[in-house]
Amino acid sequence: MQKQWWHDAVVYQIYPRSFCDSNHDGIGDLPGIISKLDYLKNLGVNVLWLSPVYQSPMDDNGYDISDYQAIAAEFGTMEDMKCLLDQANRRNIKVVMDLVVNHTSDEHPWFISAKSSKSSPYRDFYIWRDANADGSPPNDLGSIFGGGAWEWDATTEQYYFHLFSKRQPDLNWENPNVQQAVHDMMNWWIEQGIGGFRLDVIDLIGKEIDKKITGNGPRLHSLLQQMNRATFGDKDLLTVGETWGATPEIAKLYSDPERNELSMVFQFEHITLTWKDGDKWQPIPLKLSEFKQVLTKWQVELENQGWNSLFWNNHDLPRAVSKYGDDAKYRVESAKMLATTLHFLKGTPYIYQGEELGMTNVEFHSLDEYQDIETLNFYKVRTEAGVSHEEMMAALHENSRDNARTPMQWNDQEYAGFSTVKPWLKVNPNYVDINVEQALADSDSIFYHYQTLIQLRKTMPVIVYGHFTPVCESHEAVFAYLREHEDDRILVVNNFSKEPQTLSLSEVAGLGSVEHLIGNYPPRDNLNGELTLLPFESFAVKLQR
Ligand code: GLC
Ligand code: CA
Repeated sequence: MQKQWWHDAVVYQIYPRSFCDSNHDGIGDLPGIISKLDYLKNLGVNVLWLSPVYQSPMDDNGYDISDYQAIAAEFGTMEDMKCLLDQANRRNIKVVMDLVVNHTSDEHPWFISAKSSKSSPYRDFYIWRDANADGSPPNDLGSIFGGGAWEWDATTEQYYFHLFSKRQPDLNWENPNVQQAVHDMMNWWIEQGIGGFRLDVIDLIGKEIDKKITGNGPRLHSLLQQMNRATFGDKDLLTVGETWGATPEIAKLYSDPERNELSMVFQFEHITLTWKDGDKWQPIPLKLSEFKQVLTKWQVELENQGWNSLFWNNHDLPRAVSKYGDDAKYRVESAKMLATTLHFLKGTPYIYQGEELGMTNVEFHSLDEYQDIETLNFYKVRTEAGVSHEEMMAALHENSRDNARTPMQWNDQEYAGFSTVKPWLKVNPNYVDINVEQALADSDSIFYHYQTLIQLRKTMPVIVYGHFTPVCESHEAVFAYLREHEDDRILVVNNFSKEPQTLSLSEVAGLGSVEHLIGNYPPRDNLNGELTLLPFESFAVKLQR
């Protein structure tokens, strides 16, 4: 496998609105991010993925862009953006921009022109269809944010298509002018010195509406190859696609270097295991056996072709420690266990802001405290369909995107040091105990655990390139595996339960002499015979050949 700089990179995702507010308006901003670059450098990450900071009416917190080459006033200015790139690059940190090109905002000048008249030169930048004879929409495709995907435009008497909110009209990727305009915009950003792109819901751009195909459409891969050729292909950038519909076979199409598409994709098979029938508003408990199977499958399938991205959470998902660990009694142990499990896998790890502190889901008691458009839309849709208020509030507590979006917890002062005024979204009350200041002062904190994991990856090629083999594959509560590369061998053992677990590692050779690398309890000096793992115990050791 040809080495790439992003193979041993560790990415940190920033949700700018919730990271750090420098000018006391309750909203995080670019100068706030700049002021925390040394913190990120200390953590050890070398790439930042910024959720969108472009000009936007913020219907979906910036995933609705009205000018791709301007910065939203609440986040700062283009000068601030250039300063961020400069200050980050000086610290050898690259900045990956979020590329949202499945749709724009309805306030983008392209859409304003498109809807002004059928003869607008931008009309075909979007997807328009006539109504059926009875006035109903062309078909029954639904929006991912609830309700139908078609919105009637009374001025020009046609429907336009939107897979997200009606304020996020989908671009028409069949139109070569759309392709050209997006490529030009991407090249402009590349010239500014960015480190790459995270491509928002990119598996939707090859859609064929009339056949009701939205994800993984027939033109998807040729569009990406074309984009690659026209923009980042020869620039050595990190590109990661958000692809909810990817299987390992599909992920190889995107990330096989021979095909010249993307560096890697985010796949969601391990995430949706806790969604009943693919519905996030019907959360179900995690079955570790299935979780292990999915993670193992992805490690094995992408071994020689393609590349994995590794993540437990992001700005759309609940907090990892709340979902897969224990956010009460064993919060610290389980957060470290999850970090160890992920960071020893093969692929590029992504840390979502606050994960390195073990930040948790938030419990809002009133619907008014939620801000997220998806959350509010679905509360309405589902309660109107008969789901009770209590059941829906419980589902929101589990899976609302606002769990990830509460302000970053910097210290134990009012508003968690995020801002000096009331933030746009309520701070999680546990900031008094869970915050950066506390973490930096405690040498045993989750933060330093992440710091060590990142250092290990930088210094041990076996973590980056080693062959993966599952160990104790049928164990119900323990996820263990080996990584092997040239003369190096690492064994990683993780108890995913709050109960002690017994296991025998006899299938692993070389247990006689082990070197402790990292763990969340005192190191074990002997791994022979039957072991009893403590609640959420996790460790990685180096083995002799
Ligand atoms: C992606 C983003 C999400 C956004 C949606 C529409 O899934 O991660 O936050 O709402 O796309 O752009
Ligand atoms: Ca601000």
